[in-house]
Amino acid sequence: MTCTIIVGGFFGDEGKGKIVAHIAHQDRPTIIARGGVGPNAGHTVQVGDKQYGVRMVPSGFVYPDARLCIGSGVLVDPRVLIAELDSLNAHDRCFVDFRCGIIEEDHILRDRRSDHLREKIGSTGTGCGPANADRVMRTGRLARDVPELARYLLDVPAAVNAEIDDGASVLLEGTQGFGISLYYGTYPFVTSKDTSASQIAADIGVGPTSIDDVIVVFKAYPTRVGEGPFSTEMTHDESNALGIQEFGTVTHRERRIGCWDGEMARYSAMINGCTQAAITGIDKVDSACYGVTEYDRLSSKAKEFLRCAESDIGRPITLISTGPELSQIIDLRADYQE
Ligand code: GTP
Ligand code: IMP
Ligand code: MG
Repeated sequence: MTCTIIVGGFFGDEGKGKIVAHIAHQDRPTIIARGGVGPNAGHTVQVGDKQYGVRMVPSGFVYPDARLCIGSGVLVDPRVLIAELDSLNAHDRCFVDFRCGIIEEDHILRDRRSDHLREKIGSTGTGCGPANADRVMRTGRLARDVPELARYLLDVPAAVNAEIDDGASVLLEGTQGFGISLYYGTYPFVTSKDTSASQIAADIGVGPTSIDDVIVVFKAYPTRVGEGPFSTEMTHDESNALGIQEFGTVTHRERRIGCWDGEMARYSAMINGCTQAAITGIDKVDSACYGVTEYDRLSSKAKEFLRCAESDIGRPITLISTGPELSQIIDLRADYQE
């Protein structure tokens, strides 16, 4: 049984939601805990023809047998959280650490009215930057101060570490991506916190010695929303010719599309302490691979892409996603276990 962290290796939106949902169904964790910034994230999970988009609830919710926890480093917008719990009917299995910072209406207004955040950085307008600023100034409210959250409050690190000590399987999910880390990304065009695996562990209150695996998720064609450098960005004409177009889950802005960035993948794998990598969007490398679930059935073009990507990352690619739906994946993890 293992404690696994899943994080984004490029600029976010790599498909972590789908990868977490798949791993959850395979590994049957007793707890899935979320780290990362807050409701600026948007995870998409597609099961059959039903598509879910979540911003606060861990994307592992599609696996019904795990407790869902939000770590103390994550900003909680109580309105967003409660609306999601209503729509997913997940009130009884979702828990919030009592130390989570709270996003107030005023944080959202400050985010949206700030030329610097909204125009220059291209923030999501969800109040995360101003709420993290207030947390650093030690003026913000915490989850324990909000009556509507009382029924969800939990000492999340105590619950997660108890499961780890019991030898259960535990998933720690990250949000955003390496390139928008406050420490390692393209500052100032970044989010309001680090996004690397160490930060996700700290967000949830799990020490580095308890982590068995760090799975870094990369997308074959990286994307970026908001402003900031993107060295492998394509022109609109190039991405259209490849038939690639994506829109943000939270802001519905069109995502900028780029080519595979081997240098960034390697650097990101290093800082995240990657043990295994996942690649999404292999169906965009070769549409003949859409929905394929066995490695041997991938085309030689896709296999060649994966060989190059694996050499860039310097770690084995053990999960290969071939479409947005949960079952469209090749899982090679068992082949790499010692
Ligand atoms: P953040 O936490 O906001 O960074 O998001 P995320 O990493 O969970 O990704 P998000 O769901 O925002 O975006 C990924 C998009 O790619 C979604 O629309 C997924 O449904 C889709 N997707 C995931 N895997 C694949 C894949 O293998 N092929 C294709 N075509 N789409 C995929
Ligand atoms: P903020 O986190 O809303 O302050 O936005 C800062 C930058 O991070 C902007 O460029 C956003 O588009 C980007 N960003 C924040 N969260 C995500 C995410 O989950 N996926 C992709 N980009 C994000
Ligand atoms: Mg997203």
